[in-house]
Amino acid sequence: MQCDSGLQRWLKIPRLYNLLQDTVGGNALRRKVIQSHVRAKAGDKIIDIGCGPAQILPWLPDVQYLGLDINQNYIASAKRTHGNKGTFVVGDTKSLRHDSRFREADIVMALGVLHHLDDEDATHCIRFAYDALKERGRLVCLDGCWIPDQGFFSRYVMSYDRGRNIRTEQQYRELAGKVFTNVDAWVDKKPMRIPYVTVVLECQK
Ligand SMILES: C[S@@+](CC[C@H](N)C(=O)[O-])C[C@H]1O[C@@H](n2cnc3c(N)ncnc32)[C@H](O)[C@@H]1O
Repeated sequence: MQCDSGLQRWLKIPRLYNLLQDTVGGNALRRKVIQSHVRAKAGDKIIDIGCGPAQILPWLPDVQYLGLDINQNYIASAKRTHGNKGTFVVGDTKSLRHDSRFREADIVMALGVLHHLDDEDATHCIRFAYDALKERGRLVCLDGCWIPDQGFFSRYVMSYDRGRNIRTEQQYRELAGKVFTNVDAWVDKKPMRIPYVTVVLECQK
């Protein structure tokens, strides 16, 4: 579920979303996660769940990129910006569950997505990723994360996130663990210019 008041509604506009991510360091963080955790190789098939305007595409090597998002403005923007460098599809992991394009992937990413989904939809999303992956393929997720010694400012900033389902590291591990047996997690207490805490999950099939 998403929170859609005030500024949050403006963030559905692709340019504003991207500008905000540049300003707060969210895009630099994504770039780092792509290098350290996604670790894509040229020729890999990559599925990006909740791809937004696919601003991360230029930071990947020459891969076969397939992005999906429920927001048609983001998908239209991705098509305008990247043309045939990728395939961009409007839909979610339920409506696209039986779409045969979402199979045999080397890596599935969901950057900033799970914290938008309640437990049922998040489990569905993780299962979609599992089914879309080749044997030994990996799901990489990046999300906001509550920690026991959460500072006042990060708690305040994170409480305004559009995603209404920020979880603890343990809760993310439990969600992913319903589907994947190999789950690793890395918490970062200073990932961006703003007070915010993130977790990266790497789940191997
Ligand atoms: C915080 S944005 C992240 C966008 C992009 N992955 C990034 O890293 O900038 C979350 C995205 O998830 C999309 N989204 C939310 N629920 C979704 C769902 N059920 N299926 C597909 N996309 C979803 C939203 O439309 C939005 O583009």
